[in-house]
Amino acid sequence: MSEACVESLLKRRSVRVFRDEEVPLESLLRAIEVARYAPSAGNRQPWRFVIVRDVRKLRELTEKLHHAGPLATARAAVMVLANVDESPTSYMVDTSLAAMYFWLALHCMGLGAVWIQTLRNVEEFREFVKAPNNYIPIALFAIGWPAEQPEPKKRKDLREITYMERYGIPLSEGTLDLP
Ligand SMILES: Cc1cc2nc3c(=O)[nH]c(=O)nc-3n(C[C@H](O)[C@H](O)[C@H](O)COP(=O)(O)O)c2cc1C
Repeated sequence: MSEACVESLLKRRSVRVFRDEEVPLESLLRAIEVARYAPSAGNRQPWRFVIVRDVRKLRELTEKLHHAGPLATARAAVMVLANVDESPTSYMVDTSLAAMYFWLALHCMGLGAVWIQTLRNVEEFREFVKAPNNYIPIALFAIGWPAEQPEPKKRKDLREITYMERYGIPLSEGTLDLP
């Protein structure tokens, strides 16, 4: 495994403030192209992407939904939607994976982004892109060139989240020193 690849994953941050500089459509399309390679149950690929580059629409949404604040400076947004009928059991997981691939692809291109919660206001977000009722908005990404470099957020310790062989058996002392 390449250490550069791991380093890149560790450097991704949620970026919420953006420079006033255009985001090329080609970059967004490239990131969606990459997202298509996310795994999905039965390879059903229930995801869809809606690109919104009308900044007036983005600013309006910020005013309506306070947690959509990062859209105030974003130069683009992409909504990731799941088609419930195409994968009734796995649409949520599959589409979240595609959303994460999309985010990581943006990060690899130097673009900043943050995942804005859509699941508390499904109707409003669906209406925002005029999606039919059998689509669930899984994520809305506010996207732009970063105007901030956030510090890494604190993470739970490895020992707090990892067990050996069965739930509840902690990593023994010294395990973390193994190669
Ligand atoms: C499902 C999901 C919903 C999120 N919703 C929001 C949101 O509505 N607004 C926001 O500013 N950040 C949101 N975030 C970003 C998280 O706050 C962020 O990922 C977390 O604090 C860790 O920081 P990092 O992404 O910089 O590592 C969301 C992230 C996920 C995965």
